[in-house]
Amino acid sequence: MIRELIVKTRTIRRFKEDEGLDETVLRELIDLARLGGSARNSQPLRYMMVTDRQLGARIFPHLGWAGYLVDWPGPAEGERPPAYVICLLDRRCCQGPESEARIDLGIATQNLLLGAAARDIYGCRIGSFAPDISGLLQIDGSRYKLLLVIALGRAAEEVVLEEAGPDGDIRYWRDRQQVHHVPKRPLTDIIIAPGSPPSKRGSQ
Ligand SMILES: Cc1cc2nc3c(=O)[nH]c(=O)nc-3n(C[C@H](O)[C@H](O)[C@H](O)COP(=O)(O)O)c2cc1C
Repeated sequence: MIRELIVKTRTIRRFKEDEGLDETVLRELIDLARLGGSARNSQPLRYMMVTDRQLGARIFPHLGWAGYLVDWPGPAEGERPPAYVICLLDRRCCQGPESEARIDLGIATQNLLLGAAARDIYGCRIGSFAPDISGLLQIDGSRYKLLLVIALGRAAEEVVLEEAGPDGDIRYWRDRQQVHHVPKRPLTDIIIAPGSPPSKRGSQ
């Protein structure tokens, strides 16, 4: 069961733009993020919901999409995300180093995305964003630091997992039918026995 949900929880970058998400759903997803583990239990993450289409349209040009798909500039009109969750670090609440908050961020956003996939909502974490977004959202930079943007919506693309080949190439790619393929390293490549010599495989 949990494996099926994890397999289903794929990054989606083309959305049904006209199918909006309401804030009630986003609040439920943020509630799942809230319940994740947190270093020192300091819980320094804060979230901003963006469902307003005009604001979303202003955020969109500041996002970097799918770096490996060099010929693809990102979702076209009609397939852009209808909603965003903006993840912020509250500096006043951050007791440890930022690296700890970033571990919290991974846990929190995975909770959120798992909960979303269970509702047939998908997303894309976007770490590649221009700092201008903080201004657009009128974020108080003295207190909050923008860590991550999550684009969310209903999927308008198919994504499949596959095993990375012996060359260790992990770049995602699209086939002629525009199905998005995501290579994951084989289990045998990622489990390392204590004292084992360095592997030649999967080093990319
Ligand atoms: C911390 C983090 C930052 C990411 N930033 C971006 C990004 O800026 N743009 C993007 O298109 N995808 C981004 N992604 C999505 C990854 O490319 C995606 O997770 C990866 O291709 C594997 O696909 P999967 O999530 O379906 O397993 C990011 C993912 C993570 C975890």
